[in-house]
Amino acid sequence: MAAYREPKPSTIAVVTLPGTARAVTVVRHWAALVLETDGWTEVDDTLLVVTELAANAVRHTASGRPGGRMEVVLIGEADGLVRVEVADEGAATIPTVGRADWDGLGGRGLRLVSTLAAAWGARLAGRGRTVWALMRLPPAEPVARPADDPCGEHAESH
Ligand SMILES: Nc1ncnc2c1ncn2[C@@H]1O[C@H](COP(=O)(O)OP(=O)(O)O)[C@@H](O)[C@H]1O
Ligand SMILES: [Mg+2]
Repeated sequence: MAAYREPKPSTIAVVTLPGTARAVTVVRHWAALVLETDGWTEVDDTLLVVTELAANAVRHTASGRPGGRMEVVLIGEADGLVRVEVADEGAATIPTVGRADWDGLGGRGLRLVSTLAAAWGARLAGRGRTVWALMRLPPAEPVARPADDPCGEHAESH
């Protein structure tokens, strides 16, 4: 019988970091570690989304000021869904998908998020907002393990 590495719906990981560019890199690596350790595959889009949300917290909110912090949460839900949340310390602006500006250097992050995510949104939380995205990841894939070798299977079934 093939073994399946089940993505863990029980994945839940939280990290609080300073609101700096370096922390955005750390968030990406941390998310990769957490998701891959728990058996999630094809996590690239999720890593892109968590990076954009963390970068926005740093760039557009009080989280990016000296002493500012952001909190990043990953939650594995049933049916291959991973919820990504980034809580910031507040801003006068609201997270919105901008109109495509042909010449603009920025303004595409949340457009990417809205394209890649099954759903996304923002809610007021504490002094700031929690911006979240729900990512659909592929179902579990078979993984080889010693018991799967043909001899073992033969011995089991006869
Ligand atoms: N966490 C946030 N809190 C408040 N405003 C935000 C937040 N994230 C994004 N925004 C607003 O939404 C706009 C669009 O974000 P985005 O598409 O990522 O483009 P960019 O970051 O390049 O400006 C930002 O310019 C900002 O005004
Ligand atoms: Mg952005």
